[in-house]
Amino acid sequence: MPILSKLTGFIGAEIECLSLSETISGSGAEFLKRSLAEHQVLVLRDQYLTSPQQKALTRVFGPAMQLRYVSPLEDDPEIIAVLKEASEIGGGVFGGEWHADFSFLENPPAGSILNAVEIPDVGGDTVWASQTVAYRCLPDALKSVVDGRNAVHVGKPYGVKHAPPAETRANASIRMTRGDPDADRETFHPAVITEPITGAKALFLNPIYTTRLDGMSEEESLPVLQEIYRHCTRPDFSCRHKWQAGDVVIWDNRTTLHYATNDYDGHRRLLYRTTFSGAAPR
Ligand SMILES: [Fe+2]
Repeated sequence: MPILSKLTGFIGAEIECLSLSETISGSGAEFLKRSLAEHQVLVLRDQYLTSPQQKALTRVFGPAMQLRYVSPLEDDPEIIAVLKEASEIGGGVFGGEWHADFSFLENPPAGSILNAVEIPDVGGDTVWASQTVAYRCLPDALKSVVDGRNAVHVGKPYGVKHAPPAETRANASIRMTRGDPDADRETFHPAVITEPITGAKALFLNPIYTTRLDGMSEEESLPVLQEIYRHCTRPDFSCRHKWQAGDVVIWDNRTTLHYATNDYDGHRRLLYRTTFSGAAPR
């Protein structure tokens, strides 16, 4: 029987006594899906999954999703190598700001799975913040702004209009597709969504991609969004994972934000990532 223990008071759980390299039974799949909905981030140590095993695990949660803006492995379009080489010094890191992945898509990823292969002795932790708890603890004055309102998401780093300067995006091991006019399109999602299994409400606003709240200009939205982001990324609402090789972490991309710490220059770090889709956020 799997054993689940919470990582913090609000977000994250570690699951022991469950091998993901074996065929996952129907009851095992239901346990994993419910645990993810309830805890938002699941950690399983010592798994050392192969690519086929990681892809089978991904399908437990939903259809595998290919991401058009990040180049996958040459021989497998479902898997991205999240890699920073020891020689990549003084630059940014993939995911090094608070965000949810690709929320500017009509149907953003429902979740992702990281499978740790090579990890620095120290550093390279990942942090997740619960947006269900952030919504629950949101001051009423801010709740009244976001309740029932849409927010506008734009794929800024991948488009033309807001493209980052060229010198900030050279020589990274992760190859991204940039300059796509489609990514500049405004996509509207509810600012507050409901997690379909638990019914919990969650903030769905993205520090990288949300440009404004519907019915407000960018200038009017900015101070409101900044106040919300200060709130919704509080350490109180977060868990931090210190990686070891063999770890598997699964997260809900709709009800969390995440942040990749960039404190391991000079060390190689490699994880394989898969992504799954679900129903559009509502
Ligand atoms: Fe990310």
